[in-house]
Amino acid sequence: MSNIEQTLSIIKPDAVERNLEREIKEFFLHKGFKILKEKKIQIEKNEAEKFYKVHETKPFFNDLCSYLSSGPIVAMVLEKENAVLDNRELMGATNPKEADEGTIRKKYGISIDKNSIHGSDSVENAKIEIDFFFKD
Ligand code: CMP
Repeated sequence: MSNIEQTLSIIKPDAVERNLEREIKEFFLHKGFKILKEKKIQIEKNEAEKFYKVHETKPFFNDLCSYLSSGPIVAMVLEKENAVLDNRELMGATNPKEADEGTIRKKYGISIDKNSIHGSDSVENAKIEIDFFFKD
């Protein structure tokens, strides 16, 4: 039985700044993801705070929101079979130092903050995150 899902991916400021957009998109296309929608934008800090609300009690919340709003990002809706889990596998561990070979964060991530990419962690959050950027 097929299980086509959509997930939200964000190419973060550190990767956009280094012109890695095309290379990172190639990772997704090569793994069979379709990029259904995409937009390059810069968000305000208060929008980043809304986006990362689940992390609001964490000690790194303020830095995280300052960082996400510090420069242009590329938000994308990705689609494929089991997109949520497969995307998380392709991204690699949150901390690039712990990421496996062949993952996006292993190749491009600089630090746990500047880890180049965000991906939804569940089907439920994917819907919320896609709406956040693409609800019109
Ligand atoms: P992301 O997948 O975008 O979700 C939340 C982000 O918080 C995460 O990637 C990291 O870039 C950042 N972060 C900073 N410190 C931590 C930490 N100790 N644990 C988890 N995420 C962290």
